[in-house]
Amino acid sequence: MSKLSSKEKELIELENKIRNCTLCQLSSLRTNAVPGDGNYNAKLMIIGEAPGRNEDLQGLPFVGQAGKLLEQMLNEINIKREEVYITNVVKCRPPENRDPTEEEIKICSPYLFQQIKLINPQIILLLGKYSLKTILNINLKISYLKGRIFIKDDRYIMCTYHPAFIIRNYTNYIEEYRYHFYKLKSLLEKLSTNPKNKV
Ligand code: URA
Repeated sequence: MSKLSSKEKELIELENKIRNCTLCQLSSLRTNAVPGDGNYNAKLMIIGEAPGRNEDLQGLPFVGQAGKLLEQMLNEINIKREEVYITNVVKCRPPENRDPTEEEIKICSPYLFQQIKLINPQIILLLGKYSLKTILNINLKISYLKGRIFIKDDRYIMCTYHPAFIIRNYTNYIEEYRYHFYKLKSLLEKLSTNPKNKV
């Protein structure tokens, strides 16, 4: 068995800490906490909102309908799910899939910040307004900033709609969504051919 790097060990420890977390009320309602899943050396990290029913049952992020669409969009730009790291702002399912509260986000987000620090992705894709607020501290609807790319802490941060929104509004938004993923692909390609990581 290959030896784990200290980064891998720290991420595994962090994920276990999240699985056993009891810092907020959501912990008492969960089946499983959902720390995140994917490649610890990912260039791309994807951040959603909070686990839903399927995620709570399986302990994995984006494994329901929204996850299917996300995977489909990634596949369209030749990215396999296993290449990226996927997680959420809040790691336990809010009851009835309600929005996470400010308090829950405040308590849970240090885990996300720690994951970003350890994985150190070149690009973060934010899905929906809760990740936008948590990562960029911008309290606006996604529709104002969708497809825009920001730079923070030397990394690129792109925001787009949450896939659940696209499922609900498929015919009106799927082409725009696809365009955002192609923009993401082009950013990844530019970064892989430019050693200084500047585009
Ligand atoms: N929606 C999210 O924001 N995250 C998931 O993991 C699943 C659905």
